[in-house]
Amino acid sequence: MTLEEAKKLVEKLRDEINYHNYRYYVLNDPVISDEEYDELMRQLKELEKRFPELITPDSPTQRVGAPPRDGFATVTHSIPMLSLQDARNEDEIREFDARTKRFLGLGPDAVIEYVAEPKFDGLSCEIVYRDGRFSLASTRGDGVVGEDVTPNVRTIRTVPMRLLKKDGAPSYLEVRGEVLMRRTDFEKLNQELVKRGEKPFANPRNAAAGSLRQLDPNITATRPLDFVAWGVGLVEGVELKTHWKAMDMLEDLGFKVSQPRKLCRGIEEVIQFHRSLEEERDHFEYELDGVVIKVNSLELWENLGTTARSPRWALAAKFKPRQRTTKVVNVIYNVGRTGTITPVAILEPVEVGGVIVSRASLHNFDEVERLDVRVGDAVLVQRAGDVIPEVVMVIKEKRTGRERPIPPPDRCPVCGAEAVKDGAYYKCVNISCPAKLVQALKHFASRRAMDIEGLGGKTAELLVEKSLVRDLADVYYLKMKDLLELPGFAQKSAQNLLEAIEGSKNPTLARFIYALGIPNVGEYTAQVLARHFGTWGSLAHATHTELLNIKGIGPETARSVVSFFQEARNLHTVERMFRAGLKVKEEIQTKESPLAGKVVVFTGALSSMTRDEAKALVEELGGTVSNSVSRKTDLVVVGENPGSKFQRAQQLGIKTVKEGEFLRLVGKA
Ligand code: IVH
Repeated sequence: MTLEEAKKLVEKLRDEINYHNYRYYVLNDPVISDEEYDELMRQLKELEKRFPELITPDSPTQRVGAPPRDGFATVTHSIPMLSLQDARNEDEIREFDARTKRFLGLGPDAVIEYVAEPKFDGLSCEIVYRDGRFSLASTRGDGVVGEDVTPNVRTIRTVPMRLLKKDGAPSYLEVRGEVLMRRTDFEKLNQELVKRGEKPFANPRNAAAGSLRQLDPNITATRPLDFVAWGVGLVEGVELKTHWKAMDMLEDLGFKVSQPRKLCRGIEEVIQFHRSLEEERDHFEYELDGVVIKVNSLELWENLGTTARSPRWALAAKFKPRQRTTKVVNVIYNVGRTGTITPVAILEPVEVGGVIVSRASLHNFDEVERLDVRVGDAVLVQRAGDVIPEVVMVIKEKRTGRERPIPPPDRCPVCGAEAVKDGAYYKCVNISCPAKLVQALKHFASRRAMDIEGLGGKTAELLVEKSLVRDLADVYYLKMKDLLELPGFAQKSAQNLLEAIEGSKNPTLARFIYALGIPNVGEYTAQVLARHFGTWGSLAHATHTELLNIKGIGPETARSVVSFFQEARNLHTVERMFRAGLKVKEEIQTKESPLAGKVVVFTGALSSMTRDEAKALVEELGGTVSNSVSRKTDLVVVGENPGSKFQRAQQLGIKTVKEGEFLRLVGKA
């Protein structure tokens, strides 16, 4: 066989295979047997093996097998992929119709033609065809720039590699649609993942997104993904007048398109469609979260235009969140990355919109109190935005009297340290609790805390992951050879980090207190404590009553501080830091400070320091900084080009000083 002959045969086989793919995957209506199909594929593979120069990326044999990549390249969409304005009820749908008419200068009795179609809950994607061939696929990303997922999308069987029709097809076509997973496939995939000890996906949408955005397209190829087209981007070579016709064209070109689709005269027909689809939604194989309403005429699209975020010619009319009743069988406590302990209700499993729900977040203890939920209660659960299920209300009529109230946690379920209340949440007081160690380390090193440059989130994760840091104090025992073990670290970067750690060993008391991440103790409270106690030693011995007597310290903060010092592990950690050479600067006694208790306002540009630094300085000296001048202001510091605050200070007769004078006052000049 000559190359020319082989080329013809290869082309013929590809066309045939593409057509049978379409019959099988898009239409669900195959016209040949699986064996016959396999035979065609076998012949094509054979020829491509003999004539490798004939292999093209759009060949049906190339749907799998692309090598993994290091990261996704980016793709700029030629027309931004915007989002949709929402409507939550029928009145809002009617309001959209009225708004559209007003914008077009039409009277209230005019009838607009709309297309109504399902809103699929998946991941939007744009696929480019050049001269009828699949050439590029990207995710929506931020709407302007998406990720290049070409090899991944190539593995989706409902995505044609070649457009079905050659005559009358656009020379350039951008197809937009949703990458989806059927609910049944999602359940199956989750079962497999659990069997293999991997984490299951929360819903079909996440499963579709997680499967598509794989750096290794071979993994995507094993996932049962689907693509349903709902629109076009840029099109060349074909004139389109309506959205309806655009969808017809996509269907003719071999795409699965959004179905059922209805051409509606006026908004009331749209509302009928919305009602019936909402009733039917559980019978669909895909997860739907509403109806998308689009003005049919593309000329009107031009007239209506878009806002910064969404087109004026379309609307997402959402379905109501799906709710079911079930029973709370238990409550467990989860510890988040920040040490926040959240109650989670364990439920009798119940199907909510095609997904089995067996746990629901109760968010926090204020919410537990508000709902008055107890173990044994019958509750209404919903999947809001169809993500994490939540308890909506307790059905109190069903109470038997045997329900048990849910006590707040007194100990952290991960490390056993005391749990203290911080706002609506309970938090673990152990600063090195394994559940929050990465976050704690990141916070400890952050700029406003110990200011260890080079110890950001990524390094914190690595240090904890490699067990180089199991306790915050371990930071001060890191050696060069430890850091060289970490990916991305070389001699120079390791040296820099060690120097930064060394350089952090002499913090102010306020910074050190703040860095420890004690529940309820933010930057301001840390300053109040530092100013009051002056030294670490006296803070460590503070009693609850003593703390409560300090202005600005409430009962929860007092409890946190006392619990912090009662936790032996915390004392041990701090002790190890001191032994490694950490020495806290004693705080200037507030009584001696010229700014103690004073309210200071800055106006104009300072030349010797940033506003942040100036603020820190005032606070270190016991003052507070305010943004506006009032009768309560004690001092206004005037920099270059002062603003209206300067005049206001003069009107109110408040003392003003120039930058130099301020520096002398605070002992910096
Ligand atoms: S039309 C300007 N039609 O919903 C955007 N979108 O919230 C035009 N979606 O990003 C979108 N089904 O991923 C349209 N039938 C449908 C849709 C649909 C699902 C998604 C799409 C979009 C998001 C907007």
